[in-house]
Amino acid sequence: MMKQSKTFLLGTAAALAFAAAPALAHEDHSHGAADHAKLTDDRKALKLEPSERAMLLIEMRQFLNGIQVMTESLSHDDLKAVASAAKPLGRAAMHEVPDAMKAKLPLEFKQLASAVHGGFDQLAMDAESLGDAKHTQKQLAGILKNCVSCHNAFQIPALPEKK
Ligand code: HEC
Repeated sequence: MMKQSKTFLLGTAAALAFAAAPALAHEDHSHGAADHAKLTDDRKALKLEPSERAMLLIEMRQFLNGIQVMTESLSHDDLKAVASAAKPLGRAAMHEVPDAMKAKLPLEFKQLASAVHGGFDQLAMDAESLGDAKHTQKQLAGILKNCVSCHNAFQIPALPEKK
């Protein structure tokens, strides 16, 4: 019993440290969570102009907005609404990224981004044609894995604005 609750606490502490890691990374020193802080320090830093960073983060928030609508619609079995939320997040959105910015992005980053966009295209098509909520949920879970992989691998530090 004692042992169980200790394991539980450690697990919770690890989860909290992990969740708080991005905030800790900005501090000069962090106490007690050295391993987790090190994990985030290892994320490859993409060097983007402030406007490029802003563009990418807007796209990220659109992903999250879309997923919010999709999960809510899934809970109502409204697969048509899922499809309309997923469509704008598909590959077509990739053409909006300027070539100069694409050139700065590592191959792994572009592959993960492409997998996510392609995943939303497929999800939208299947949600419309199959109308199978479980299938759509599985696809969404698969897409989210790629979100997670990329977030664990990359960061975009904010550079000072050019005066
Ligand atoms: C190809 C890489 C990649 C993929 C795929 C990706 N992201 Fe991101 N995302 C990033 C990076 C890099 C950041 C900035 C992280 C940092 O600097 O700490 C970010 C930041 C974010 C943010 C914060 C936005 C802000 O305004 O600060 C959200 C929300 C987000 N992503 C959601 C998602 C969701 C949801 C998905 C999947 C549908 C996703 N991302 C897929 C790379 C990615």
